[in-house]
Amino acid sequence: MKVADKHYRTIWLNEDGWSVDLIDQRWLPHELRVETVRSVDAIATAIRDMWVRGAPLIGVTAAYGVAMRMREDASDAALDAVWDVLHETRPTAINLRWALDAMRRHLRKLPEAERAEAAYKRAAEIADEDVELNRNIGRHGLEIIRKIAAGKKPGEPVNILTHCNAGWLATVDYGTATSPIYLAMEEGISVHVYVDETRPRNQGAQLTAWEMAGHGVPHTLVVDNAGGHLMQHGMVDMVIVGTDRTTAEGDVCNKIGTYLKALAARDNGVPFYVALPSPTIDWTVRDGVKEIPIEERSGDEVSLVWGKDETGAVRQVRISPEATPAGNPAFDVTPARLVTGLITERGVADASAEGLRALFPEHAGAD
Ligand code: MRU
Repeated sequence: MKVADKHYRTIWLNEDGWSVDLIDQRWLPHELRVETVRSVDAIATAIRDMWVRGAPLIGVTAAYGVAMRMREDASDAALDAVWDVLHETRPTAINLRWALDAMRRHLRKLPEAERAEAAYKRAAEIADEDVELNRNIGRHGLEIIRKIAAGKKPGEPVNILTHCNAGWLATVDYGTATSPIYLAMEEGISVHVYVDETRPRNQGAQLTAWEMAGHGVPHTLVVDNAGGHLMQHGMVDMVIVGTDRTTAEGDVCNKIGTYLKALAARDNGVPFYVALPSPTIDWTVRDGVKEIPIEERSGDEVSLVWGKDETGAVRQVRISPEATPAGNPAFDVTPARLVTGLITERGVADASAEGLRALFPEHAGAD
């Protein structure tokens, strides 16, 4: 997407042909910093410490990490070792495992001498495929927005609430939850987005709000607890969120707090949609609450908040007593029964085993 008239993806191959440039999202919205990453260790740090984040982008970054390793050592042992190192960086987003598996499957069957070049090519393809998947998610989601817009009075916006950042920053480009919003804007449909701040790391306030502002999407930042109130007062027409892992039966794991939004949406008759590319579906898992590992991150993310002070310096401040321990489960699971529909690249699926397998018949019978 464009930032100040320049087109950016979140990650791209450096002009040296082997290292990787990425937007270091820790500094947004205050600074747009691009880092060049030159080793597998640095790739692992960038994922673990959330220079990059968002399920699809985590997967693409890891794919480039595999390519970097193949350049140094293309043996089977090195391939397995880099899989292990990168896989443990973030436990919840299934796109990480999906991308690592895709790379390993592809490279294993090649002679070692061909692996490095093939790895960079496959990583670039995974990045390009992500952009295409998101465009298609946008087209299907746009149809839903169009229908809601058709029931509105002239000039009245479609009010959309979103949680966390499932925007272009969470993917290679376009985003998942934001893709239909950007396409609706392009089509001249009036939209307005309620952006949940998304504590503790504030991906809504820092990233989604930055995206919305940058692309001229009318939006309002709200605290995480405002959603229920807004829905009770008819101020939200639909919720669209992303997901880090969706089960074969349609349970949706996403940023902590998503479940409460889904409950409020159900209580108020507001449609609750989840936008996802198929690599986010974990066909091996059925019951999301019982089976999806939930990342527990440092309590410092709860007790310390990043911001820009009056001198223009970006720094952290403590908001709780030093002695108070903080818990930080990073994701929760919204049961399929609370999900109105799953917006995928192939269309909108019912959040159920039948719904998903009707769109992805190649996974029928998968366990
Ligand atoms: O912890 P994060 O910032 O990686 O969490 C991101 C989310 O929860 C997104 O909603 C999800 O990855 C979908 S991104 C298209």
